[in-house]
Amino acid sequence: MKKPVTVTITGAAGNIGYALAFRIASGQMLGYDQPVNLNLLEIPAAANAVQGVVMELADCAFSTLNAVTATHDAQLAFKDCEFAMLVGARPRGPGMERKDLLLENAKIFSAQGKALDVHASREVRVLVVGNPANTNALIAQRNAPSISPAQFTAMTRLDHNRGRAQLREKAQVGLAEVKRMIIWGNHSSTQYPDLHHATVAGKPALTVVGEPWFRDSFIPTVQQRGAAVIKARGSSSAASAASAAIDHMHDWVLGTPPGDWVSMAVPADGSYDIPEGVIYSYPVTCAGGRYRIVPGLSISEFSRERMSATHRELTEERDGVKDLI
Ligand code: NAD
Ligand code: LMR
Repeated sequence: MKKPVTVTITGAAGNIGYALAFRIASGQMLGYDQPVNLNLLEIPAAANAVQGVVMELADCAFSTLNAVTATHDAQLAFKDCEFAMLVGARPRGPGMERKDLLLENAKIFSAQGKALDVHASREVRVLVVGNPANTNALIAQRNAPSISPAQFTAMTRLDHNRGRAQLREKAQVGLAEVKRMIIWGNHSSTQYPDLHHATVAGKPALTVVGEPWFRDSFIPTVQQRGAAVIKARGSSSAASAASAAIDHMHDWVLGTPPGDWVSMAVPADGSYDIPEGVIYSYPVTCAGGRYRIVPGLSISEFSRERMSATHRELTEERDGVKDLI
C-alpha cells in the first residue's frame, strides 16, 4: 500500500456525491493500492445527511479508505488536499439551461477557489462538476492564483462517454472498438461532439455510421442527453456523472489507453485557435500524471463553425461573472 492521499468531495451528501464517495473510497479512482483520506464538504443544513454517508462508508469496510472527515468548513475540507472534486452546487430543473445556474453557483466556486489557494496541496488536481462546469472552473482557477492554472479542469467526460455509447450502439460493436471521439468546448447544449477523427473497429467512424446520422441524430442526442435524463428521472444525472468523474481523475493520474484519447475541459492555450481565457474541452492524452492536448488534428469548416460557437458561449458566460474572476 502507498502513502494515503487526500481527496475532497464537495456536496458529498448530494445525488452525485453519494454515488461518488463510495467509488473513490473503494479504490476505483486512484487504484486498489492507493489509500485515501476522504474529506466531505457540505453545507450546515446537510450535516445530518453527510453523517449518514460517513456511517455507510465505515460500514463498507473498504481497505483503501484510511480516514473520513465531514465538515462545513472549507478550510478544513481542503487542507492539504491533492484531489478536489467540486460537485456541490445547485442542479438545473426541466426547461433550464445549465448557464441559468451561473449567478447562483458562481459564488460557491469563488469561495472554494480562495480556500484551495490557501489550504490545498500545491499539486492539487481540481475537477469541477457543478454546473455550469467550465465557467465555474474558471472562477475557481482565477481565485486561486498560487496554484498552477493547468491544475483546474471541468468535466466533459460524461458527454464523451455518452458519445461513445451512442456510437457503439449505432455501429453494433463492443465499446473497446470505439476510439477517438471528441467533445469540443462547453459542457452545455453548444458542445460539439465530433466524429471526424473517431474510429470504429479501426475504420473511420463517419464511413461506418454516415454523415446524416452524425449531423441529425448523434450531435443533438449527445448535446441534449442531460436534459433527456432530467425529463425521464425528474432530476439530473447522478450515477453516470459520478462514473465520469471517476474516469476523468483516473485517467488524468493513471493515464489514457494507448491509441485513444479522452475529452477534458482544460484551460485553453491557443490550441485549435481557441484563445486563452476559457476552460474549453479538448481531446487529451494523459501520461505521467499530466494531460496534453492532442495536437495537429485537421478541422473541417463544419467543425470550425461549431467549435467557435461553443467558444462564444464560454466568453459570454465569462463576461457574466467578470466581478468574480
Ligand atoms: P444535489 O442537489 O443532489 O447535491 C448538491 C449538494 O451540494 C447538496 O447536498 C448541497 O447541500 C451541496 N452544496 C450546496 N452548496 C454547497 C457548498 N457551498 N459547499 C458544499 N456543498 C454544497 O445535486 P447533484 O445532482 O449532486 O448535482 C451537483 C451539481 O453537478 C449540479 O450543479 C449539477 O448540475 C452538476 N452536474 C454536472 C455534470 C457534468 O457533467 N459536469 C453532470 C451532472 C450534474
Ligand atoms: C448532465 O449533463 O447530465 C448534467 O450537466 C446535468 C444537466 O443539467 O444536464
